[in-house]
Amino acid sequence: MSRFVLITPNADFENRLRQAVAGGLQGGVQTFLTNVLPAGPFDLFAQLNQERPEVLVLGPDVPMDEALRLATVLDVQAPDLTVLLVSEPDPAFILQAMRAGVRDILSPSADSDQMRVLLEHACQSFANRHRTEPFQQSDSGKGTVIGVFSPKGGVGKTTIATNLAVGLGKIAPMSVVIVDLDLQFGDVASGLYLNPAHTVTDAVSPAASQDTLVLKAFLTVHPSSIYALCAPVSPVEADFITPEQVTRLLEQLADEFQYVVVDTAPGLPEIGLAAMEACTDVVWVSAMDIPSVRGLRSGLDILRQLDIMPEGRHVVLNMADPKCGLSVQDVESTLGAPVDVSVPRSRAIAFSTNRGVPVLQEARKDPAVKGLNRLVERFSPNGRAKSPRKTHRRVVV
Ligand SMILES: Nc1ncnc2c1ncn2[C@@H]1O[C@H](COP(=O)(O)OP(=O)(O)OP(=O)(O)O)[C@@H](O)[C@H]1O
Ligand SMILES: [Mg+2]
Repeated sequence: MSRFVLITPNADFENRLRQAVAGGLQGGVQTFLTNVLPAGPFDLFAQLNQERPEVLVLGPDVPMDEALRLATVLDVQAPDLTVLLVSEPDPAFILQAMRAGVRDILSPSADSDQMRVLLEHACQSFANRHRTEPFQQSDSGKGTVIGVFSPKGGVGKTTIATNLAVGLGKIAPMSVVIVDLDLQFGDVASGLYLNPAHTVTDAVSPAASQDTLVLKAFLTVHPSSIYALCAPVSPVEADFITPEQVTRLLEQLADEFQYVVVDTAPGLPEIGLAAMEACTDVVWVSAMDIPSVRGLRSGLDILRQLDIMPEGRHVVLNMADPKCGLSVQDVESTLGAPVDVSVPRSRAIAFSTNRGVPVLQEARKDPAVKGLNRLVERFSPNGRAKSPRKTHRRVVV
């Protein structure tokens, strides 16, 4: 088994590294005598003669900018792999390399004893790291893009979006990404208890929009086996993000993930409309009160006039409460559309928001959990098969 993988066109360096391993380390070395680096983990792992190496050594004599880029991508997508870079130890470069996730720098002139020490350290670091699964691409072309919208604020969009993403993550682990397009005041990060290193601002940068592997490196992994792309840290950054950038971002993510769940700001701002046009499905959320239901009715009317109507429409009545003086039938007739899923008002949800742990992340018994699972089921391959695309009951007028 090759514990070490080396990519370099330098045969002399390869000899020294083989001696280092033979002189006291377990496992073998697989070498690619080339200066061409793989584009990402899939390309790399496809070329290996075994499942997973522990240590990847890049260089000498490979393009350093490409090596740093590869290290960045691997740091996110294959975090259990330890990457060593062969280069002269220039302090400015070391800093750049460490930021890219490189574990250590190996001098091109190191002798085999010096190499052995570094390789041993690298193996220890591998052993200490937690193994995570690599990306899984969707089997068939483009993913399902589900936008969660409502004209009114505070009706539960973020709650629905985060739970939907976590629920879908159980069906398709590592194939779900949630994107926070409430660019000014988004709270997906808080709802998922994340402290992201990168946000939508990085994800729409030229580097990411031209290279999907770079974009993926900007996603944050959540313990429920989903990815998150959180809103910018400062509301000011939102002003610099254009609808065109959002369109491109969602297009890229739909190419890579089975499910893209989009949380949005209240109302129908330009960014929201751009997102909606990229959606295959829209989840409309209304609370069980007259202003919220009327707001949604007006929103739906405007979109019909603008002819922006994604194919799949799902109406969620949130904070449903039989004692609030309104019935589901009242809501449906005001909306002019059926309610597809009802999520009761629940203390478990209020509590989960404050803890940053969506209710579907835990095995909780709660009526709201039932409703949220019903929503998730509409997007599962089974749910789709039972009632392809438009899955409404009769429209109540
Ligand atoms: N079914 C529910 N039962 C009880 N509380 C709920 C329910 N759904 C949402 N909430 C609570 O309502 C508050 C607002 O929810 P949330 O942040 O999801 O709404 P939002 O539509 O995303 O708001 P905004 O428009 O500000 O983004 C949260 O404190 C959340 O815990
Ligand atoms: Mg919100």
